[in-house]
Amino acid sequence: MNFDVADLPPGLAYKLLTATIVPRPIGWVSTIGPGGAVNLAPFSFFNAMGGAPPVVALGLMRAPAGGRKDTARNIADQGEFVVNLVSEDLLPQMSMTSAPLPPEESELEAAGLTALASVHIAPPRLAESPVSFECRTLHCLETGPDQILVVGSVLAIHVADRFVLDAERGHIDTPALGLVARMHGAGWYARSSDLVQLDRPAGGGRL
Ligand SMILES: Cc1cc2nc3c(=O)[nH]c(=O)nc-3n(C[C@H](O)[C@H](O)[C@H](O)COP(=O)(O)O)c2cc1C
Repeated sequence: MNFDVADLPPGLAYKLLTATIVPRPIGWVSTIGPGGAVNLAPFSFFNAMGGAPPVVALGLMRAPAGGRKDTARNIADQGEFVVNLVSEDLLPQMSMTSAPLPPEESELEAAGLTALASVHIAPPRLAESPVSFECRTLHCLETGPDQILVVGSVLAIHVADRFVLDAERGHIDTPALGLVARMHGAGWYARSSDLVQLDRPAGGGRL
């Protein structure tokens, strides 16, 4: 079947994208609100977009009630954010922080999570998260009404010590991170434990 986006009712293209582009990593983003409260929310329109220098991107849609989401407003205002990754044990808290709270209330505190000071930027990282990226905005592109694409430069990468196998070589115990990804529908997630291994062709390089 061919779905021509111009003919689709509102909301259907989103459903088709999110039902098919799976699994999607989840960036659990901490920012600071206008009054100083730490804002925390998950975003699965998230990925690494460059390695040298390291770059990530986030897709932040319009808030259901209209206007920009708190995360989008905070990033546009301050240009700083932390992307924390989500391990399976953190799923309930992650889901809890997707509920819209007023900007003066902290989802991080409401979920009983712990903030740790970042090294380069004001928003804190999550102590409970196995991996966090401190980011500064490189570019904010308005892709629709109150919808933005944020491209961020990664300033620091925090990996919990127990997962670092060889710091000099950048070897991480990835399976032990137990990261989860978003699947289709409202509440489906995937574990990153069902793996297949395939060697690259000769001359393919390491990238
Ligand atoms: C797993 C998961 C992934 C999500 N991914 C996105 C996303 O990529 N983009 C988006 O705009 N909202 C996404 N949401 C919804 C936001 O988390 C939600 O709108 C949240 O209230 C935004 O918070 P804020 O207003 O504090 O920024 C996601 C929710 C969940 C549970």
